[in-house]
Amino acid sequence: MDWVWETLNRVERKMEKVSMRSAHKIPYTARDGIHDDRSDDANIAWWTNGFWGGMMWQLYALTGKEPYRQIAEETEQKLDRVLMDFNGMDHDNGFRWLPTAVADYRLTRNPASRNRALLAAGNLAGRYNCAGRFIRAWNDWEGNTDDHRGWAIIDCMMNLPLLYWASEETKDPRFGQIAINHANTAAENFIRSDGSVNHIVEFDFEKGGMIKSYGGQGCADGSSWTRGQAWGLYGFILSYLHTKNPLYLESARRIADYFIENIPESGLIPVDFCQPQEVLWEDSTAAAIAACGLIELAKAYEQNETGQESGQKKDGEDRCENVYMRAALRLLKTLAQKRVNWNDQEDPLLTKCTAAYHDAEHEFSIIYGDYYFLEALMKLAGKELFIW
Ligand code: GLY
Repeated sequence: MDWVWETLNRVERKMEKVSMRSAHKIPYTARDGIHDDRSDDANIAWWTNGFWGGMMWQLYALTGKEPYRQIAEETEQKLDRVLMDFNGMDHDNGFRWLPTAVADYRLTRNPASRNRALLAAGNLAGRYNCAGRFIRAWNDWEGNTDDHRGWAIIDCMMNLPLLYWASEETKDPRFGQIAINHANTAAENFIRSDGSVNHIVEFDFEKGGMIKSYGGQGCADGSSWTRGQAWGLYGFILSYLHTKNPLYLESARRIADYFIENIPESGLIPVDFCQPQEVLWEDSTAAAIAACGLIELAKAYEQNETGQESGQKKDGEDRCENVYMRAALRLLKTLAQKRVNWNDQEDPLLTKCTAAYHDAEHEFSIIYGDYYFLEALMKLAGKELFIW
């Protein structure tokens, strides 16, 4: 427990300075220790643009310091341009508006935030393919050669909470029904017999039914892109929290068991669990996201065993007896020791994050790695603003 608070306080001390330097940006990565800015017209729809606001809301929940709230609000308002851009919106609407508008609404009941989030949820629901019972992933872009009409991706599991929230908020079950149908399709078609998950599955977009899977951001078809495993693990446990359907708990458990079994001795996570031995590229984001999912899985099991809210009863390392909590702490402590840049003159937190195995560039800083590292610490400290 001491470790959790020490680390969280250290993060906050650094972020207080970073947030002032990047107050009017929406960062994705950094060059020479300085955040970039994705809030210009060409980049405002970038799928990661909700995480900076989410970090600010978490830090506001932790400290009550006004500048964090103001930066979060500025980010949320900048994203309004995306709501008027049909091609800019996609399956990642949850990543854009849950950590911004929904977080704001949960804290402040701001009606403008509710409006934004419901518009985003409506657009996400509109991507549902009724024959295949899945939410379509990407739009087609100019010059793309693939036909994306039948494509769904495991990452989408993390966006379903926007639909659960919309149903809860409007008392209209349509949004949640779509989320549940997508989660059922994903449980059946994305999770392999060993508990690993596909990144992309192509369905027949007119009749339904799986056609094939693709390796996507991993190293090959049939391989195990680690961030995809983490999205699946965290995404299924979130669907369980919203619905209490044991299928989703079991799905999260199977993915978690596979993930834990494949954590290397070093505790550092590769880009793909199946990458060639001589390839050493890492993805710290996968470790941070998986840690969040493992903490929720540990809490769900504990709650099922005791029949009560465990979060209030025990915290942090006191929950170590649970295999999922132990794995989460191992991932987070390894990151804190070896993959966090504690220099407060440089903007990013996590080092060695990788967007995709076949990209030209690997092992740099990525904002959602920082977000989930902070979120995991907030969960352990019992201070999290629940975003999903
Ligand atoms: N959702 C895309 C990614 O994880 O890179």
